[in-house]
Amino acid sequence: MEPRKRRPGWPLLVALANGRVRLSPDRLAHAVRGQVVLVTGASFGIGEATARRLAGAGATVLLVARTADQLQLVADGINQAGGSAYSYPADLTDPHAIEELVRRVLHDHGHVDVLVSNAGKSIRRSIADSYQRFHDIERTNAINYLGPAKLVLELLPSMRERGSGHIVNISTAGVRTPPMARWSAYLASKGAFDIWLRSVAQEIRDDGVTVSTVYMGLVHTRMSEPTTELKNLPGLTPEQAANQVCAAVAKRPHHLVAAWVRPAGAIGDLFRTPTDRLFRQYYRRTEPKPKPGDNTPGSPR
Ligand SMILES: NC(=O)c1ccc[n+]([C@@H]2O[C@H](COP(=O)([O-])OP(=O)(O)OC[C@H]3O[C@@H](n4cnc5c(N)ncnc54)[C@H](OP(=O)(O)O)[C@@H]3O)[C@@H](O)[C@H]2O)c1
Repeated sequence: MEPRKRRPGWPLLVALANGRVRLSPDRLAHAVRGQVVLVTGASFGIGEATARRLAGAGATVLLVARTADQLQLVADGINQAGGSAYSYPADLTDPHAIEELVRRVLHDHGHVDVLVSNAGKSIRRSIADSYQRFHDIERTNAINYLGPAKLVLELLPSMRERGSGHIVNISTAGVRTPPMARWSAYLASKGAFDIWLRSVAQEIRDDGVTVSTVYMGLVHTRMSEPTTELKNLPGLTPEQAANQVCAAVAKRPHHLVAAWVRPAGAIGDLFRTPTDRLFRQYYRRTEPKPKPGDNTPGSPR
């Protein structure tokens, strides 16, 4: 991806919008050196940057995604730089592929110390454009909820048996703020896994398995690029986002979220009706006007 042009004041805006997380190289190395860390969605974006950073700090990284060539490129880059990376191509929407993945990983490495559940897919589409697209809901759920849940189910027995493990969920700030029009399928699927994992976390803590959730703000990646509205908003680079993920790996906080998200969520809850009204007005103003002759509500555009 092309490096982004920065405007004056941009770094401050980015820090305000996304929070600033400090993590020294020593702290990260101390936490992950010699650890086996499985990163899903490691072929591009946040997952790729996270895998490179963790491997640079001394972790053995297991890279999972569908695009085998790209995954191998990332693994080769890490290994050539002196790190230790293994590529495990897999489609995480396929439960059998996940079973086979975990079987191979445990056979090859014995255990997984840290799971970074990062693979995901976003869709931004109004409901009027979704009548013929039930598969949007199926696909977002498959990779943002069901796949990650199946992977946790497969890895948990060995983590609990060893009495140690850490799971880092890369969620979105959007599940902590009032829901926004056009993001229904994406936010519902991310919210479902967030709630599922937080509930599970209470049951596994006493067995030495911890969970951290990163409620990530905007990151300029392959995922966010197609959405024109997001292009000019202050967002993190994949490397800055990876810093947040690595802080969650090293420090094991309950969750990480930018400071403004908490009050925004609380205000949205407290004043639900006016908030929904405000967002509805924003939706009306930004929805493209139907073209002449296109008077069928819900016709696929
Ligand atoms: N970008 C943002 O603004 C933002 C904000 C908040 C949260 N997040 C979250 O951050 C995570 C990473 O997003 P990103 O921005 O880095 O997106 P990205 O660049 O599109 O990366 C998504 C990763 O997920 C993998 N993936 C997708 N479907 C998969 C499947 N069926 N099986 C296995 N791997 C699959 C992709 O690899 P393959 O295509 O090779 O399979 C890719 O490596 C997502 O969970 C997203 O919801 C992103």
